[in-house]
Amino acid sequence: MTQYRLKNEKDSSEEQNNSKIWGGRFSSSSNKLMEEFNSSIQFDKKLYKQDIEASIVHAEMLCKQKIISEKDFKLIKTGLNKIKTEISNNNFTFSIKLEDIHMNIENRLVDLIGDAGKKLHTGRSRNDQVATDIKLWLRDSIDQIEINLKLLQKTLMDKSELYYDMLMPGYTHLQVAQPVTFGHHLLAYVEMLGRDRGRLTDCRKRLNELPLGSAALAGTSYPIDRDFVSKKLGFDKPTKNSMDGVSDRDFAVEFMSAASLIAIHLSRLAEELVIWSSDRFNFIKLPESFTTGSSIMPQKRNPDAAELIRAKPGRIFGNMLSLMTVLKGLPMTYGKDMQEDKEPIFDTARTIQMCIVNMDGMIKGLQPIPNNMIEALQKGFPTATDLADYLVINLDIPFRDAHHLTGRIVLLAEEKDCTLESLSLKDIQKIIPEADNKILDVLKIQNSVSSRNSYGGTAPKNVLKAAREAKKRFLKD
Ligand code: ARG
Repeated sequence: MTQYRLKNEKDSSEEQNNSKIWGGRFSSSSNKLMEEFNSSIQFDKKLYKQDIEASIVHAEMLCKQKIISEKDFKLIKTGLNKIKTEISNNNFTFSIKLEDIHMNIENRLVDLIGDAGKKLHTGRSRNDQVATDIKLWLRDSIDQIEINLKLLQKTLMDKSELYYDMLMPGYTHLQVAQPVTFGHHLLAYVEMLGRDRGRLTDCRKRLNELPLGSAALAGTSYPIDRDFVSKKLGFDKPTKNSMDGVSDRDFAVEFMSAASLIAIHLSRLAEELVIWSSDRFNFIKLPESFTTGSSIMPQKRNPDAAELIRAKPGRIFGNMLSLMTVLKGLPMTYGKDMQEDKEPIFDTARTIQMCIVNMDGMIKGLQPIPNNMIEALQKGFPTATDLADYLVINLDIPFRDAHHLTGRIVLLAEEKDCTLESLSLKDIQKIIPEADNKILDVLKIQNSVSSRNSYGGTAPKNVLKAAREAKKRFLKD
């Protein structure tokens, strides 16, 4: 049988009784194993500020409701603030034996102020406490993520304004389709991130109900004032049902699903940066500070930041799946299973933040190479659709025939190894005898782009207007 031993753990029973190695050491060390397994302090110490903030307000409410004395409240408040300083100055010894952040803080409080500290936990439980702490923590993170998304949108909009008329190929199936402008392309991401911000706002709104006061699961017989605590902690209202209050983690799943979509969007942009900066495309130069060299091939500049952003959704989706799996089938109300919520939440928030700020850095520093974009465009015969449309509208040719004739013209350009723009009228008349000079204009990429002036289209004038409108819409307040 395989024996499990913690690193550095001395196996004293082994020396004492070889014949009963497993049995002997089980009773002597299982507590240690269990302590380590059961504790969350390694990761939930992150919640210390929220835990202390909520505890101070809870104590203030207990005092206001005459459940504890003014004197005890003052002692509790001073003690908790001292603990906050100790932890932020790295002057606090966390103990696995005390399991989690809640008990570590409470235990220290009793050390510091004696019996008054033992009154803090009146009318609450760790179940409503932890749900409150996580909500407070996540609320701050959501706000921070939203700010960074907005900054990234701003960077993209600035670039869109700058490159509102820079021609580049628009792709479908990663084949040149129709000309667009670089600004137009970047604005597509501004819209995606705008929806992402909306989802975060929705999630924050639904999250913003206070669980504290639900106590273990059934509420409490103390005359507490949940509205007071809710207001003071910036919640919209207390949760309506105490059982739901302690067992709800929907807000975390919602956050992770919003984060997953952000990750999807950023990974698409990251992949475009990888493609655009590859030597075959060479549409952009990424800022050196976001690329790395190869240890063996001196010519290389690898788009590592973009590749990492491309990869991170794996981790973010995984976190969401892990939490959903923990919650699924969990009977009401709290189960220790729910302690498993924290690491995926923390990791998701941190990962998505890193993706957003690194993307921002890359977009800020990228240099487009317009000549290469144009060259790629020309090679893709991107005005073929314009030509077919022209034949339909001006020469009264049915669309299917127009499509076919245009195909023959593309073939001709291919045979002559030239662009559509550089075909002569004579060349064209060999296939469409009734064509006149005007047809040459239709084949010009610049004209094609300018003609796409429908609402939401890529005509440079539109793009400039759209970038300015987006700034108004997304950057207000
Ligand atoms: N560390 C625990 C968690 O994160 C706190 C709540 C513990 N509650 C309990 N009844 N054991 O979920």
